[in-house]
Amino acid sequence: MNRFTARVTDLPNSGIGYMMRYASKYPDAVSLGQGTPLFPTPQFIYEAVMAEAKRNPLVGMYSDTKAEIEDNLKARIAKQMTEDYGFTPEPERLGITVGGVGALFAAIMSLVEKGDEVVYFDPSYALHISQIHLAEASPVFVPYDEASGWSVSIEKLRKAMTKRTKMIILTNPNNPTGTVLSESEVRELVSIVLEYDVMLLLDEAYYFLTYGKKLFSPMRIPEIRNNVILCRSFSKEFAMTGWRVGYAYAAPEFTQKIQSVQIYFSVCPPTPSIVAATAALSDPRGKETTEWLKQKFTESKVAICERLDRLPKLFSYHPPDGAYYIFAKYLGFDLPAMDFTKLLVDEAKVVTIPGSGMGPSGAGHIRMSFAADQSLIHEAFDHLDAFAKKRNLL
Ligand SMILES: Cc1ncc(COP(=O)(O)O)c(C=O)c1O
Repeated sequence: MNRFTARVTDLPNSGIGYMMRYASKYPDAVSLGQGTPLFPTPQFIYEAVMAEAKRNPLVGMYSDTKAEIEDNLKARIAKQMTEDYGFTPEPERLGITVGGVGALFAAIMSLVEKGDEVVYFDPSYALHISQIHLAEASPVFVPYDEASGWSVSIEKLRKAMTKRTKMIILTNPNNPTGTVLSESEVRELVSIVLEYDVMLLLDEAYYFLTYGKKLFSPMRIPEIRNNVILCRSFSKEFAMTGWRVGYAYAAPEFTQKIQSVQIYFSVCPPTPSIVAATAALSDPRGKETTEWLKQKFTESKVAICERLDRLPKLFSYHPPDGAYYIFAKYLGFDLPAMDFTKLLVDEAKVVTIPGSGMGPSGAGHIRMSFAADQSLIHEAFDHLDAFAKKRNLL
């Protein structure tokens, strides 16, 4: 007897957790796997949490016991959004969430259900597919074009729209392809959202991280503001993946629903993490941290591209315009992506993530995270060079 609900039966799997566990049997394996900055949360953030905890007993309580801790963060978020998007959001449009993932989950659970179609640019962040599945809706895959450097096709998006389309999910910059939409692509996409009157679920977890290309956010277009749910995260921008805090911006009625869904699965984000996020946005060292991380990721991007260029028989790839991943096609192996990533762990002692969990276009690809010091990139590629040599692919 299957005791499980349809929601969790055959739940699509990103492969990230599986690969991290698979690799844990090799303590010397080098990880380009999970997309977490391999740098510690800055010390001043810990200190701010400790100082506030000593002073204010609310730090140990639900964050909505008295709203002051949440309200402080919302005021800082309003400032960040004013700088990033050129307008100041009303507090009732802001919700603090359990990471960006909490915002995405609550938005999807609130807005789509069985029979609804959700456009997913393929490949993107695998968790979106699982969340669509949990809501019992259907993903509609609109592929990025690999040949032109993983660019988006607005024409394909238009063809994918039907009467059942409820939502379009855009991750910009994209994980894993590093795609950053141009201003004209963003404007065309927004006009489709408005024409069909669907919701845009906008995942800007990597808002801060582009390489040369300036990000033009849909949030810059005022007409989108009642058709958008923006999800942002503190995880990548401040090296805070473990704190589990992010935020959503949407029209007040959506924000209210997102908050309700969140209450039913977590009550609230951890209050110490809200204090930490407030410190990240209010102390000048927060911006310095983001700039420093960006510098580090840029160096590592240069390093990984140089090393990949030396392995043209093993990988083909396009340099990313944003985020901190390379989405590489592997050559010379007729293996599914999961088997290839296992082979790389077993033989090269390098952890990567199979692309197949990120959408149909991810077959035959692997994702490498370079969110680390460039010395780790060189260590991983020394291993990959040796692997390629052994296989006559150097
Ligand atoms: C595109 C994207 N959105 C959201 C998240 C999750 O962020 P958080 O840690 O804030 O839940 C990630 C994490 O890898 C991501 O890549």
